[in-house]
Amino acid sequence: MSDSVKDIQMKEYRNEQLVVYWYPKICSHSAKCLKLSPKVFDMERRPWIELEAATPEEIVRTIDHCPSGALKYSLPPSSNVDPDMAKGVGWLNYQQNQTVAVKIRVVANGPLLVEGPIIIEDVDGQKLKQGSRFALCRCGLTSDRPFCNNNHSRQGWQVDRKSNSTSDSDKQNV
Ligand code: SF4
Ligand code: FES
Repeated sequence: MSDSVKDIQMKEYRNEQLVVYWYPKICSHSAKCLKLSPKVFDMERRPWIELEAATPEEIVRTIDHCPSGALKYSLPPSSNVDPDMAKGVGWLNYQQNQTVAVKIRVVANGPLLVEGPIIIEDVDGQKLKQGSRFALCRCGLTSDRPFCNNNHSRQGWQVDRKSNSTSDSDKQNV
């Protein structure tokens, strides 16, 4: 990613069915979006998000898998998408809609996935980030503490034994 892209706070992509928001500074580059919807998300293309390349429902499901919360969506008034299927963790207003407990999931040989509402504070108690989903580094190899930047995968960090209960999504890099 170029420095100019890193400087962008948020970029918006929209059509009549869907609005997608991307926050480059919190993208952990796990490439989940690239794997699940490669025609929509392509880092080599400009713009890198092409909303016409898949159904809005597919894009919603893909964004619900973004581990860092760097991708979000909302439905514009013109959308025909079922609003109930578009209320996952990637929904822009997910946080305001939740009264449930925070969930933390340990990803095999990877980060801690925290689903919230979440506020992350630095060592001085200053707010670092606020959102609904974050991937926190568990390996200590990230250069973006406390967030995972996928260095666990690049550096082959292995601490968890292989388990039959490990889900397919956990086996992929996040
Ligand atoms: S963190 Fe989200 S936006 Fe960044 S590459 Fe992964 S899935 Fe895509
Ligand atoms: S867990 Fe991903 S960089 Fe540490």
